[in-house]
Amino acid sequence: MSIERFPGFIDVHVHLREPGATHKEDFYTGSRAAIAGGFTFMVDMPNNPTPTITKERLEEKVDLSKKALCDIGFHFGTNGHNTEEFAKIWDSPSVFGLKLYCNHTTGEMLIEDKDLLDKVFSAWNSLKPILVHAEGAQLEMALAFALKYQRRLHVCHISQAIEVELVRKAKASGQPVTAGVCPHHLYMTGDAREKLKGYAMMKPPLGTQEDMDALWVGINDGTIDIVETDHAPHTREEKEKEQPAFGVPGLETAVGLLFKGVKDGRIQKEQVTKLLYSMPKQIFNIPDQGDTYIELDPDKEYVVTPPYETKCGWSPFEGMTLYGKPETVVIRGKKIVENGKIVTN
Ligand code: NCD
Ligand code: ZN
Ligand code: ZN
Repeated sequence: MSIERFPGFIDVHVHLREPGATHKEDFYTGSRAAIAGGFTFMVDMPNNPTPTITKERLEEKVDLSKKALCDIGFHFGTNGHNTEEFAKIWDSPSVFGLKLYCNHTTGEMLIEDKDLLDKVFSAWNSLKPILVHAEGAQLEMALAFALKYQRRLHVCHISQAIEVELVRKAKASGQPVTAGVCPHHLYMTGDAREKLKGYAMMKPPLGTQEDMDALWVGINDGTIDIVETDHAPHTREEKEKEQPAFGVPGLETAVGLLFKGVKDGRIQKEQVTKLLYSMPKQIFNIPDQGDTYIELDPDKEYVVTPPYETKCGWSPFEGMTLYGKPETVVIRGKKIVENGKIVTN
């Protein structure tokens, strides 16, 4: 057992809820959850109640995010009717990609019309990736549009065996596509809904054992490039409703779950850095953070227990034994976490 140093990890898929839903999370509390979990850079999604689909909304977010304790970038959003905004924002250093929703989920940005999708893929003439929420058949369609316009495509939260196969085939054919997986899809199947009820409801939904096994295979054969948390906090009240809100928080548990994967022999230790740092950095061209690192003991176990830093105050992994809780976090030479406690505000 010994403390090891790792780079500050990168999470390219979080929903920090500000502005518009700050009863769930905000940039400050979300950033506390990030650093407690070992992340020093994250990229926020555009599905706020007023979506991030104009330059003005983007600038508002950049401004609001200044209170965060770590670095935050943004994915721009589209409903198919804002393509004239693309060229105004795609060179912004705050923008890392364009997010496209091809299935119903939290937010109001679903695009189902094929002509609109065609227009979006055609208009995004940038090397920054188009990120898709596209499950099953929708993924096939997204891959086809990306191929048609030769756009770089990042498949978010891949969750089904059939999707792993689609990405594997696309990669084999030489198409520039990457894929991310969420920790909850690696550790839970639909059976978890019996006990966790609404707390186990998210998009894409939890799959079967076969899906879960395929995701681990995909990680190990290079089909899956990164782990993204899809940190999607909702209040307990929202999760206990008859129609629960979709999404689970994940920033504080992702690293511990991956080191559990190492402990359990599912992946090698080097892959953790690849999945949470080198590959996300490369795919999304995340800037260097000088003198930034975290320290943890990958063999040291801990149990997921409250309190949590995320404003929603719960975790679907509560009670689970994980490994490697971040003990030190340093960003640009400044100690942010010391002995596992946040020491700045
Ligand atoms: C996300 C949210 O709540 O913003 N929910 C989810 O279940 N994953 C939206 C999304 O990523 O699809
Ligand atoms: Zn999604
Ligand atoms: Zn998401």
